Amino acid sequence: MMENNSENKVPILEIKDLKKSFKDNSVLNGFNLSLYKGENLVVMGKSGSGKSVMIKCLVGLMQADSGTIRIKEQDIEILGREELDLLRTHIGFLFQGSALYDSMTVRENLEFPLRRHKKELHLKQDTEVLVREALKNVGLENTIDLMPSELSGGMQRRIALARALILKPEIILYDEPTTGLDPITSKEIIQLMRNIQATYNTSSLIITHDMDCARVISNRMILLVDGVNYAEGTYSELSRSKDPKVQAFFKN
Ligand SMILES: Nc1ncnc2c1ncn2[C@@H]1O[C@H](COP(=O)(O)OP(=O)(O)OP(=O)(O)O)[C@@H](O)[C@H]1O
Ligand SMILES: [Mg+2]
Repeated sequence: MMENNSENKVPILEIKDLKKSFKDNSVLNGFNLSLYKGENLVVMGKSGSGKSVMIKCLVGLMQADSGTIRIKEQDIEILGREELDLLRTHIGFLFQGSALYDSMTVRENLEFPLRRHKKELHLKQDTEVLVREALKNVGLENTIDLMPSELSGGMQRRIALARALILKPEIILYDEPTTGLDPITSKEIIQLMRNIQATYNTSSLIITHDMDCARVISNRMILLVDGVNYAEGTYSELSRSKDPKVQAFFKN
């Protein structure tokens, strides 16, 4: 569990005053976020509020207009390519959808991050061992030679999770981990995310509009409204809020 004196600690990941517009569509208007070690932080916002844009800025898939992003006390703006690549080995990313490579087997999908970061990793272990371990974590060892098209949506999501975990990242970013899954499969994915956090003490940033997921997994939540962190607190704190914009999240 997260300790309460987080104010005194240095965040493992920090976003300050992030701004991003597309022509006249200003999506992020000064968004702030601090993620602490071992914490599950949920960011909620309605569709189109900028959650994916925020996470893409975080991983460098998109360039913010202004603001700072610090990961493991390093300002990503000023890092060179090699330093950035090294930093990326500490971050697992579960994309919205599953985003497995359709033309690759499960094994090849999982080997991909290992190969990509070969230089930084100085791998001593055989990749096969790492692939099997990652698959075991998500309970899908027997799918190693299958193609993504041979798997159900829930299984694909689990394989994507295994791929995000294979480098044993300190930080995991989840973009809508349960969207599009039936309630039972969603619960399984959430349980898996909790197991991973408990086993590896990872820090997770979880983007979702699934309130059940948020309730079960979050230590703390941020509500993204109008491009800013409109409200922050635990699930139970926010659920008791009298603010109509906050209350809107809890109605269904
Ligand atoms: N590459 C892009 N070019 C132009 N506009 C974009 C681009 N990417 C995102 N946007 C716009 O930014 C806004 C936020 O999009 P984003 O994908 O971050 O929403 P989201 O909160 O992740 O929504 P969802 O819950 O549906 O995934 C939207 O208005 C979208 O049209
Ligand atoms: Mg999105």
